[in-house]
Amino acid sequence: MKTLITGGTVVSSTGRATADVLIDGETIAAVLEPGSQLLGSDLKASVDTVIDASGKYVIPGGVDPHTHMEMPFGGTNASDTFETGTRAAAIGGTTTIIDFVTQYPDQNVLDQYHLWHEKAAGNCAIDYGFHQILSDIQDASLTAMDELVNEGVTSFKLFMAYKGVFLSDDGQIFRAFQKGAENGALMMMHAENGSVIDVLVQQAITAGNTDPVYHGLTRPWQMEEEATHRAIMIADVARTPLYFVHVSAKQAVEQIAAARHRGSNVFGETCPQYLYLSLEDQLGAHSDQWGDFEGAKWVASPPLRSKHEGHIEELWRALRTNELQLVSTDHCPFCMNDQKELGRTSFAKIPNGIGTVEHRVDLLYQAVATGKLSLERFVEITSTTPARMFGLYGRKGVIQPGADGDIVVYDPNGHTTISAATHHMNLDYSAWEGFEIDGRVHTVLSRGKVIVDDGRYVGARGDGVFLKRGLSQYLV
Ligand code: URP
Ligand code: ZN
Ligand code: ZN
Repeated sequence: MKTLITGGTVVSSTGRATADVLIDGETIAAVLEPGSQLLGSDLKASVDTVIDASGKYVIPGGVDPHTHMEMPFGGTNASDTFETGTRAAAIGGTTTIIDFVTQYPDQNVLDQYHLWHEKAAGNCAIDYGFHQILSDIQDASLTAMDELVNEGVTSFKLFMAYKGVFLSDDGQIFRAFQKGAENGALMMMHAENGSVIDVLVQQAITAGNTDPVYHGLTRPWQMEEEATHRAIMIADVARTPLYFVHVSAKQAVEQIAAARHRGSNVFGETCPQYLYLSLEDQLGAHSDQWGDFEGAKWVASPPLRSKHEGHIEELWRALRTNELQLVSTDHCPFCMNDQKELGRTSFAKIPNGIGTVEHRVDLLYQAVATGKLSLERFVEITSTTPARMFGLYGRKGVIQPGADGDIVVYDPNGHTTISAATHHMNLDYSAWEGFEIDGRVHTVLSRGKVIVDDGRYVGARGDGVFLKRGLSQYLV
């Protein structure tokens, strides 16, 4: 099966050119100048499918390295299964996700890893890899880290928040970091000071402050800055590379930038919610349907920050200057009905998470349309760097011979209006309701197969395969 994508502008992280892309089977065979006779005088006639990409961008499929499909959390399960979540991702131009295998205290790491394989195998629309969450760091978990690296699970997330659920103390963090330094894994950190936050949460509840907005007010940026600094110092002593997930505060960015300036392998991602949304406008929202509980739609940790503190502007700046390296979604959807509603009487009981896996590429493209990011940087932060950061580059994140045929034909003249009425995530509301995008995902190929055609899903459950990842290719 040969496919030729003709006449489009092929965009990489370093440039753009009008070119034709030939895909043979599952992989890219050639990137050719228009009219090239290199592979014969009538290439179009010799292939099975021709996709006309004139007037459109041809970009490497999105790589979203932070999702939680079906995650058991907050007394319920994230509402997207691997089937529904990866299908929505595909429609939105993402062709690879890296999902988090979850270990709760007393759970065996390898049992959980096998369970995640059972959940995902045969259900995914796109390719997928795994990170491992560690919440019970003792000898067996540390030994399991070595086994998982050999299995292609080469990154591990630890938490400084969620006491009694995920939180590791500094000694446990140090031990896991040392193991990562030994086996080459990339350590990932949820940086918020959970002990202090727990006191603030209890004080708010005692004072009768139970609305969703207090979720934000009890998790101040100082606690993200402090934890970020502490983790960097611990990683420095353990000599391990460190990657911060879902960075939301400008002060955390400053810590990451300072460490990078010193030459450390310290990295950070942010997410669309921290780039566009705020504590006041979302967590503090009111609606006819939900009253002050409307803000529950955006309860996630770290929380949306105050728009008056200037985080949003600094996050965009940091993305441009590579103080932050990429944008993931932290896709962790919970419906308002029956799920977010668990926290009707107290914000502390609202399941934490926002669903965005379908919209990441569009929301970042909008930054190109409005002049915040170059087209090349957009490709870099949505595809190329996530692939490099997590050991997938060469196969994913780039349009070049030998790479998987994971390609998005993006229409800059198209238009997308985001709405729960039209999205494909298994979610009864949209955190992005009414957002307008000056572009549209037109066609998506996953390993050479067209899975989205003119915005319509035409793939099949089980198209996606597990990706055994290598070590990070981003270290300096
Ligand atoms: O609120 C969030 N971020 N939920 C998902 C779990 C996590 O910490 O990433
Ligand atoms: Zn987290
Ligand atoms: Zn997460």
